[in-house]
Amino acid sequence: MTGRIFNFSAGPAIMPLPVLEEAQRDLLSLPGVGMSVMEISHRSKTFDEIIQGAEAGLRDLLDIPKNYAVLFLQGGASLQFAMVPMNFLSPEGSADYVVTGSWGKKAVKEAQKFGAVNLAANMADGGFTRVPGQDELQLQPQAAYVHITSNETIGGVQFKREPETGEVPLVSDSSSDILSRPISVAKYGLIYAGAQKNMGPSGVTLVIIREDLLPRVRDGLATMLDYRTHVKDKSLHNTPNTWGIYIIGLVCKWLKDKGGLAAMQRENEAKAKLLYDVIDATDFYRGHADPDSRSSMNVTFRLSSEDLEKKFASEATAAGLDGLKGHRSVGGIRASIYNAFPRAGCAALVEFMKEFERQNG
Ligand SMILES: Cc1ncc(COP(=O)(O)O)c(C=O)c1O
Repeated sequence: MTGRIFNFSAGPAIMPLPVLEEAQRDLLSLPGVGMSVMEISHRSKTFDEIIQGAEAGLRDLLDIPKNYAVLFLQGGASLQFAMVPMNFLSPEGSADYVVTGSWGKKAVKEAQKFGAVNLAANMADGGFTRVPGQDELQLQPQAAYVHITSNETIGGVQFKREPETGEVPLVSDSSSDILSRPISVAKYGLIYAGAQKNMGPSGVTLVIIREDLLPRVRDGLATMLDYRTHVKDKSLHNTPNTWGIYIIGLVCKWLKDKGGLAAMQRENEAKAKLLYDVIDATDFYRGHADPDSRSSMNVTFRLSSEDLEKKFASEATAAGLDGLKGHRSVGGIRASIYNAFPRAGCAALVEFMKEFERQNG
């Protein structure tokens, strides 16, 4: 018995149990190495194999084309909010941002420090309940890039397909749905994602960047903030998050064993449907996002009052369903059901929701 509960946390989030078990087993000594992964040099042959293995795992799962570099950086997705414009947006230039929630808003705020931002769509008016259709986007052909948040973790609003941006590079903050479904990496100029939801522990940030964008990087940046540094030095310019990269490698192996991203997508959609079906069944629960834009990672809903939502979250915790309180900025209830979250946990939440409605409806 592990004593583990159903963990609906939005991130850092649940990890696959086999990954935790393997990391635990090898914590004191990697097989044949005699040292913990935390105790070896990032310049050692062993770590070289670990980082190359993690990169190969990601390339395989996401089918990353050869002309893209895979980077393991630090500073979280929040640093990428700044690094993207710092590298690609000049003071005379302009970038398009599609804002579908709080994280996109934060990305805009950083970008405005470096150049002009055109809000190609701002879904704030509708309360961030949906993604815009292609015909709603006010894209500029001369934009340095178009930025989207593929899945807004707080609102639970997700793009089901990428917007068409023509020749303008598409940049995506994919922190909360990376590896949850197959994507066509070739449609993107740059993808970034903090690891702590679907990939591994916090403290390591994945960046996938099309290499032909590198000549556009602005000169004069601090070495560590220049993408070219990390491409050239293969994420080893300084000491990377060795532990985080090791865990990402294990998560990739686990995903491969589970059948890869197409299998993951089927499972994630089936899990989300269990919850959305209960939400849709009566007026007791009110889903936040429009059905077409609903996230398969973060299921968000409201009850009739904040008091009832508080009661829901605290009784759920007592029933072994933890982390359901919505983000402090919006309230409500949020069930984060990333790759590692088991279907049995969704089924348990369904039963809890039905019983809670019987008692409080
Ligand atoms: C979509 C999205 N972007 C950015 C962030 C910020 O990530 P970090 O804490 O890694 O900077 C989060 C964190 O939850 C997120 O969900």
